[in-house]
Amino acid sequence: MAAALEVRNLSVYFQTPEGEVQAVRDLSLTVAAGEIVGLVGESGSGKSVTALAIMGLLPPSVSRTSGSALLGDRDLLALAPDRLVKARGRDISMIFQEPMTALDPLFRIGDQITETVRAHHRVSRRAAADRAIRILTDVGLPDPAARVRAYPHQLSGGMRQRVMIAIALVSEPAVLIADEPTTSLDVTVQAQILGLLAELSRAHGTAVVLITHDLGVVAETCSRVHTMYAGEIVEECSVDEALLAPKHPYTSGLIQAIPRAEKRRQPLYSIPGRVPPLTAMPSGCRFEPRCEHASESCRAAQPLERRDGRAVRCGRHGELTLPGAASGVDQ
Ligand SMILES: Nc1ncnc2c1ncn2[C@@H]1O[C@H](COP(=O)(O)OP(=O)(O)O)[C@@H](O)[C@H]1O
Ligand code: SF4
Ligand SMILES: [Mg+2]
Repeated sequence: MAAALEVRNLSVYFQTPEGEVQAVRDLSLTVAAGEIVGLVGESGSGKSVTALAIMGLLPPSVSRTSGSALLGDRDLLALAPDRLVKARGRDISMIFQEPMTALDPLFRIGDQITETVRAHHRVSRRAAADRAIRILTDVGLPDPAARVRAYPHQLSGGMRQRVMIAIALVSEPAVLIADEPTTSLDVTVQAQILGLLAELSRAHGTAVVLITHDLGVVAETCSRVHTMYAGEIVEECSVDEALLAPKHPYTSGLIQAIPRAEKRRQPLYSIPGRVPPLTAMPSGCRFEPRCEHASESCRAAQPLERRDGRAVRCGRHGELTLPGAASGVDQ
């Protein structure tokens, strides 16, 4: 299947008081039309920096980027600023974790949507207003004809996230990047929003990169998954392969950290330790300080090995049998 978005060898560096550090290293990712691909990893793994790099929205403290992000035959990383502004919203859009930071509190939601439509298409105010009501209906906002007059603070968190999705999708972009779109929502609303994203992706053929720290969200929504740790992809495969037979110890740890209803009374498992800061990256396998399978050979840098449509960055993966969702979580 042709890729709607193809990110190749993306690297992002920040300038810090301690010198230049690398937040994303040699990351490649593709997503096809109508496909939902997961990008999963704990907080601090580099997921948002990756998303912002693709969108051309990196902060000024970024000193360098390299690689490419192809949207058809255009490389987003090489586009002139005015062309990038045009592409954003029309061809590729992003939704953020906290809709209140992305919605303007001073404007009615209907006006925010019509403004987005009119920024990209030559249509009358009337036609744009009709389009706003239609898209709000599509994203399941109750009583959209009245709600267009509401201000963001008058809506619940779940409704605001629906409005964000409406704004992101109103121009029918080929690619949507959703960065932790349901993290601040309760479980029921989270399931509704994920269901909505899947439905809209199917209906419009939108390619979606779904970013989350929760592999459970990926399991519900995505066909393929990229596991990211400390700025690098450490595993890439189908969601079924990841859940049933993970090859990287980090993916296996994330599986055990999936919140589960039947374990609600027990404390949630989390992988011991934390993601290293960019100023103190291990020179060998970056997961080595936290990995229960670490041995001498892991002190060397680990290449991403590709075989049979899967990729894994762990030299020991052939020797290990790691717990997946069936064996590791439910005992
Ligand atoms: N503006 C910045 N300047 C320096 N470091 C940053 C900046 N933004 C993010 N980082 C660092 O980049 C790494 C990845 O961050 P981020 O992409 O936000 O992680 P995630 O989204 O996976 O939680 C972290 O170590 C974070 O501290
Ligand atoms: S290379 Fe070694 S330390 Fe790294 S994930 Fe594999 S077993 Fe663990
Ligand atoms: Mg983030």
